[in-house]
Amino acid sequence: LETGEDRPSDGPARSGLTRRDVLTGAVALGVGAGLDHAISDRGSSSAKAPAAAVAVPFYGPHQAGIATPAQDYVNFAAFDLSTNSLADLRALLRTWSAAAASLTAGGTHEPHATTAAQPPQDTGEALGLGPAQLTITIGFGPGVFAAGRFGLIGHAPPELAELPPFPGERLDPARSGGDLAVQACANDPQVAFHAVHLLSRLAAGTARLRWSQLGFGRTSSTTKAQSTPRNLMGFKDGTDNIKAENATEMERYVWAQREDSVEWMSGGTYMVARRIRIRFDVWDATSLTGQEQTIGRNKLTGAPLSGSHEYDPVNLAAHGPAGQALIPNDAHIRIASPQNNGGQRLLRRGYSYSEGNDPATGRLDAGLFFIAFQRSPTRQFIPVQDRLAAFDALNRHTQHVSSAIFACPPGARAGGFIGEGVLS
Ligand code: HEM
Repeated sequence: LETGEDRPSDGPARSGLTRRDVLTGAVALGVGAGLDHAISDRGSSSAKAPAAAVAVPFYGPHQAGIATPAQDYVNFAAFDLSTNSLADLRALLRTWSAAAASLTAGGTHEPHATTAAQPPQDTGEALGLGPAQLTITIGFGPGVFAAGRFGLIGHAPPELAELPPFPGERLDPARSGGDLAVQACANDPQVAFHAVHLLSRLAAGTARLRWSQLGFGRTSSTTKAQSTPRNLMGFKDGTDNIKAENATEMERYVWAQREDSVEWMSGGTYMVARRIRIRFDVWDATSLTGQEQTIGRNKLTGAPLSGSHEYDPVNLAAHGPAGQALIPNDAHIRIASPQNNGGQRLLRRGYSYSEGNDPATGRLDAGLFFIAFQRSPTRQFIPVQDRLAAFDALNRHTQHVSSAIFACPPGARAGGFIGEGVLS
């Protein structure tokens, strides 16, 4: 397979970001999206800094890890709160935010003086690994706003309602939901692990891990500077994604606006996470043509079946000589197309996952850990997933096995904390 065709620009290789690439991306992001999360390069005077030396600021108008060019790894964790005290919840978010700010800058978390007789405050496994573009994105689950918990029911965003059931899904409750989410993305999996390890340790007595998910090989390009990666089905994924440089689309489809519902979410966004297992036994036995008809794109080039280059527009009306739709009626990109969903779009920022195999059958337990950010799940994820669950040819090859929804508040100002607008 020849890869790398039709790139919108000469993007950085998957793990070989150079300082120039990153700075170029930072300028594009900073100017185009009005973000404070422009990427900075700390402590290096060489023209080509290693990717490990790249830091993404934690503080800013929006949380990092959303518009940030997708890193190579995720460590995602959902927590259950074991307290009903608003003061405890506020203290946890304050502690987490301070820790996240120092970890994302490449530092350790050591707020107090310690002695050799005490356990180390920082667990230590990321020492010397650099910031590795770590981002820590925090979200609140619907339970935080439930009646009788923290007295926050009057501040609940209507967009944060539990997702409705979808036909065909087989959700594992132990791997779904949660009161708090921590999405740690980095270009080094140990740096992402360290973030979740440390934050769960800091939560002791207030919140405990409910489920977690490791992901690798970002399955979406989220900026124009990135080349489109392949998912575990071998298809380019992210071609028609929202790109973070597109400030208009980020405002229209990703960032909650002042007029939407609750003011404290303005500049935040809603995250939907779905673990989707791929049935490789069925998929791998499907002909190349069958696979391409399932997705609606050419496997090698990523071009829509109505065109010949990756970025050719998806023409749902195109027909072949025998009158057949070039993009089949049940193709994934037809059913998911904004053209069939009132123009609504999603920022997809998922990762592949692989967790061994089913001991009884030997089949791989692997697939897509789908993560999408949006301004309104009611207008975006839910109607798209309703249609996909009913009509998508991909359903023969996939099974949704876990699900969660979180409200990710706007970013914090330096010294502040995530969720300050609602918890204070
Ligand atoms: C294992 C599950 C899935 C796989 C393997 C998969 C794969 C793909 C691929 C290969 C594309 C075409 C390239 C691109 O434009 O990015 C695509 C497009 C897309 N997918 Fe998925 N996808 C999956 C699940 C989902 C789910 C659950 C949703 C949302 C509910 C979704 C929404 C979309 C959207 C909105 C597009 C872009 C359509 C367009 O603008 O033309 N996908 N997906």
